[in-house]
Amino acid sequence: MNTSTSSSPISSGHGATPSLPRIAVLATGGTIAGAAADATNTSGYQAGVVGVDQLLAAVPALSTVARIAPEQIASVDSKDMTLPLWTTLAQRINTLLASDAVDGVVVTHGTDTLEETAYLLHLTVKSDKPVVLTAAMRPASALSADGPLNLLNAVTVAAHVAGHAEAHPAGRGQGVLVAFNNRIHSARDVVKTSTYAVDAFQSPEIGALGWVQDGRVEFQRGVVRAHTLASEFAIGAQWPHVEIVASYAGVSRIAVDALVAAGVRGIVVAGTGNGSIHQALQQALAEAASRGIAVVRSSRVGSGHVMRNGAAADDALGFVSAGSLNPYKARVLLMLALAAGVTEAVALQKVFDTY
Ligand code: SIN
Repeated sequence: MNTSTSSSPISSGHGATPSLPRIAVLATGGTIAGAAADATNTSGYQAGVVGVDQLLAAVPALSTVARIAPEQIASVDSKDMTLPLWTTLAQRINTLLASDAVDGVVVTHGTDTLEETAYLLHLTVKSDKPVVLTAAMRPASALSADGPLNLLNAVTVAAHVAGHAEAHPAGRGQGVLVAFNNRIHSARDVVKTSTYAVDAFQSPEIGALGWVQDGRVEFQRGVVRAHTLASEFAIGAQWPHVEIVASYAGVSRIAVDALVAAGVRGIVVAGTGNGSIHQALQQALAEAASRGIAVVRSSRVGSGHVMRNGAAADDALGFVSAGSLNPYKARVLLMLALAAGVTEAVALQKVFDTY
């Protein structure tokens, strides 16, 4: 894994005119930076091998939208995203946005874990300047690669938001955004829903925030839950150990017992339906909760929310409901909450009801 950081001064920005917004483009790898042996191969390629300068060079129109400062933060397939790399990325974004010389940030990322990174940044970026993630389903070498237009659209969204002080209809203060296939999503709600389709990202139930097309940006709704400047969470030195288990027919308690023995601080369960849990798993999780391990019920369904079960279940067992966060996003929030010292079930439930 290459996690080197290189940067160019933002004022040199790829030949753009000085009045345009100054947008830092932070590359982390992914299929958007992927290359295959031939242009018809869209599944057998290596992710994260094309450098940020090459990605930008493929989109000359960027110079009409923003002054770009490229940085190569990492070159990873996002399945291999690490907690230290999350720390590096979040800290670098906060440093950049604290500077008057930067108006916004675009992050290029793999699609596979983009929703996790986006939500992490949504909760830990301390700025209302735009942060927009984008990605691609087809490698840079493919016929009809989707990365170049997604990158142009992400920079267009960042430049648009940077140029406006008001929340509506301009999108200021909406937290971290994801620009993908012409749609603009909130980092909180967006999930990857297709293994291959170019239209791979959706915000189930709630829909996209807006759209971007041919240089035009329109926001159609705002973000209600707390984020960025209103978030109590920050990237800390330590990441608490939190894992995910799933409930399914015939599941045993072996995984939960092993996690407890390994000393995890929290477990998110991808339950069935409304976050229901097989009795064998539930017994093991109740014992874990009684030992002070945070247990959060999410759902494997993919849309909808998990209702909190009252006195009969969650209260008695010490469980927390993830609401509409999927298990992967619930894990992000649980790690940040535990790192901030929120450990008790009632306080954790408040966190999940707020973010
Ligand atoms: C990755 O997530 O890095 C590979 C897959 C992709 O970007 O679509």
